Amino acid sequence: GKVRAPTHIISTISDDRGEEPCYAGVPMSTIIEQGYGVGDVISLLWFKRSLPRYCTQFIEICIMLCADHGPCVSGAHNSIVTARAGKDLVSSLVSGLLTIGPRFGGAIDDAARYFKDACDRGLTPYEFVEGMKKKGIRVPGIGHRIKSRDNRDKRVQLLQKYAHTHFPSVKYMEYAVQVETYTLSKANNLVLNVDGAIGSLFLDLLSGSGMFTKQEIDEIVEIGYLNGLFVLARSIGLIGHTFDQKRLKQPLYRHPWEDVLYTK
Ligand code: ACO
Ligand code: LMR
Repeated sequence: GKVRAPTHIISTISDDRGEEPCYAGVPMSTIIEQGYGVGDVISLLWFKRSLPRYCTQFIEICIMLCADHGPCVSGAHNSIVTARAGKDLVSSLVSGLLTIGPRFGGAIDDAARYFKDACDRGLTPYEFVEGMKKKGIRVPGIGHRIKSRDNRDKRVQLLQKYAHTHFPSVKYMEYAVQVETYTLSKANNLVLNVDGAIGSLFLDLLSGSGMFTKQEIDEIVEIGYLNGLFVLARSIGLIGHTFDQKRLKQPLYRHPWEDVLYTK
């Protein structure tokens, strides 16, 4: 029989050995000739399957909506400072990416985890939010530095509108909105933010599309795929900010003394 040398790597998402590369078994010529988009490529390489058009379009909307949010947010600020220190594109990009985490852009997975758990267990928003408070955990996906009840995040509204029109069910998003109604009764800035909207809506996409088993959904949520959407999206903006600073020939950044409280 055949003797097979043991391999050191197992890979299941792509293959470059043939005439053309394949993503999850789909040849590049099909991807290009059939007019696949970035959402389809993400579906193949992350989820290892082709998803219906309304799902791939949702993924693309997430990418477009989260591509940038101006120069003042943590990620862009870091990239700008790094570019102005004369560093290269990759250094400026990763400097910005490194700020993505539980407070900024990287709350999508935890939002999905906590909303799913609370909704599946049938907790009322009051029980969920007060339970989180008792544990000393801020509700991921809730709260914003500049957005509030009277200055809603347009991105969240656009995502919700898309899902209402195209998703078979928006159960998790509706739960997140009920949580928001409760948190807004506590403080004006405790809105459902873009991380929370994407986290809850992705749960609806996964469970409503009929393309994933329950175990697969649990695995996706447990591993934490969804922050990848923000990382990928925001890379577009961070690269843009890096080019912008270089084009503008901006000098080394130094923070003004007047903006620091020096104290003992
Ligand atoms: N859940 C419960 N209570 C909250 C939350 C929350 N998510 N956010 C704020 N609060 C309450 C707390 O009582 C907080 O007091 P504490 O510091 O003792 O915990 C109080 O509001 C004051 O909060 P602020 O200082 O006004 O909030 P800030 O503007 O600094 O924070 C932030 C904004 C970081 C987004 C915060 O709301 C938070 O941590 N949210 C959860 C993480 C999250 O979803 N991040 C993604 C934001 S969207 C994006 O980055 C693209
Ligand atoms: C973002 O997308 O970067 C923001 O929601 C964060 C912010 O403070 O504006």
